[in-house]
Amino acid sequence: MAILKIAKMGDPVLRTPAQDVPDPTQPQIRALVSDMVETMVDAGGAGLAAPQVHVPLKIVIFYAPADGAEESVEEGAEEEAEQGAGDGAEAAGDPGALTILINPKIEPLTDEQAFGWEGCLSVPGMRGVVPRFTRIRYSGLDINGHPVSIEAEGFHARVVQHECDHLDGVLYPQRMTDLRLLGFNDEFDRHPLDLSPAQDEDEDGAADAADGADEPAGADGEPAKG
Ligand code: NI
Repeated sequence: MAILKIAKMGDPVLRTPAQDVPDPTQPQIRALVSDMVETMVDAGGAGLAAPQVHVPLKIVIFYAPADGAEESVEEGAEEEAEQGAGDGAEAAGDPGALTILINPKIEPLTDEQAFGWEGCLSVPGMRGVVPRFTRIRYSGLDINGHPVSIEAEGFHARVVQHECDHLDGVLYPQRMTDLRLLGFNDEFDRHPLDLSPAQDEDEDGAADAADGADEPAGADGEPAKG
């Protein structure tokens, strides 16, 4: 077990597409996943992708219910919203199960997107408002190489989209549609931004998708970081 160094935005590994894992049951993959978990916990993150620790393989880990129990996902998301999404998932109480997902694929189950706050361990000290599909299905392999296919919505769906973007070399600021809503945590803490009114002020039609009230959009807290 080891705490790994986390790559920061600007490191080429973060914009390089990751490769498939040929055999998730290999000991070195298990060792890597173990180190990723330790690294994520140490950094206070809600998720982590292998490229963030300089390994260009399709592996993501995150906290979220793994059994498709949508009701508990929504409760979790609302709980996090009420608490400002905390500094990492653990601040919101039970973070849910740790999910390890290998060679993932995402299929949106709706055209609807919602705006919500996101942070990233590779973009330290900042957060931004990002549109994400509200319902997805994700599939891939678990740590034993068994296929998984799970429907997710709300915060769960957001985290998975954020982490899987890392495998395509994409960071959340690249998904943002209004870069005025990207900033430093201490400034957003000093000048709380209520997400819905901020979107309503938009002149570019973004407001029609600003129904992210169930997202972890605390006015004065940090989002879960992935
Ligand atoms: Ni991230």
